Amino acid sequence: MIELRNVVRRFPQSDKPVLDGVNLKLERGEFAFLTGVSGAGKSTLLRLLYGADQATSGEVRVAGHDVDQLTSHSLALLRRRVAVIFQDFRLLNGRTALENVRLVLELRGYRFKDADRRAGEALDQVGLLGKEHQRIPELSGGEQQRVAIARALVGEPQVLLCDEPTGNLDDQLSLNVLSLIDLASARGATVLVATHARELLTRFPHPSYRLVDGHLEQRR
Ligand SMILES: Nc1ncnc2c1ncn2[C@@H]1O[C@H](COP(=O)(O)OP(=O)(O)O)[C@@H](O)[C@H]1O
Ligand SMILES: [Mg+2]
Repeated sequence: MIELRNVVRRFPQSDKPVLDGVNLKLERGEFAFLTGVSGAGKSTLLRLLYGADQATSGEVRVAGHDVDQLTSHSLALLRRRVAVIFQDFRLLNGRTALENVRLVLELRGYRFKDADRRAGEALDQVGLLGKEHQRIPELSGGEQQRVAIARALVGEPQVLLCDEPTGNLDDQLSLNVLSLIDLASARGATVLVATHARELLTRFPHPSYRLVDGHLEQRR
């Protein structure tokens, strides 16, 4: 479902590649952690997987497609199957929780009524029933991250990428967030979570990979 083959990502300003021959393969329903110190290249690796950046060399395959070979149209289609959750949520602050989630479905051509119902269900699943109509700044950090999760999951993605999804949350909220992400993998999504929260690695015994000097080492 996700595959990196001998991937190199070099930025022009520096002589040492950030990713220096990275290999990784995750099948449907697999969940793995991606660790490494700040600046190790975790976000860079994830960006290659959701098509926001291109490898200098090597192959990046997602859901059976070679990401670097896609036209912008097929990349747009691929992005529908790939959801991303960020540390800073990246929600639309002027909109309500429900509008943020519903928008994903409206953009895919769902009828308003269906989009509205499914978005409401997705918010219910992350425990936000009763808060649908609050605007993003009126929600706590933990609630905002749950809106972001509902938005990511409402389209039933085949691949879920998370870039330090609990970076702004306390320990208990982090565990809640990870449980929701875990649920997505139980339903068949391939999940890759970049984090340096050791607590999460202890609590969730998924395989763990560490980026060191541009290389990916399996730790567990
Ligand atoms: N667009 C870019 N141009 C130049 N250097 C970059 C760019 N993006 C990331 N880098 C560099 O790549 C390295 C890894 O960054 P990043 O992937 O954000 O690390 P992490 O997410 O593990 O903290 C850093 O040294 C960063 O400065
Ligand atoms: Mg990062």
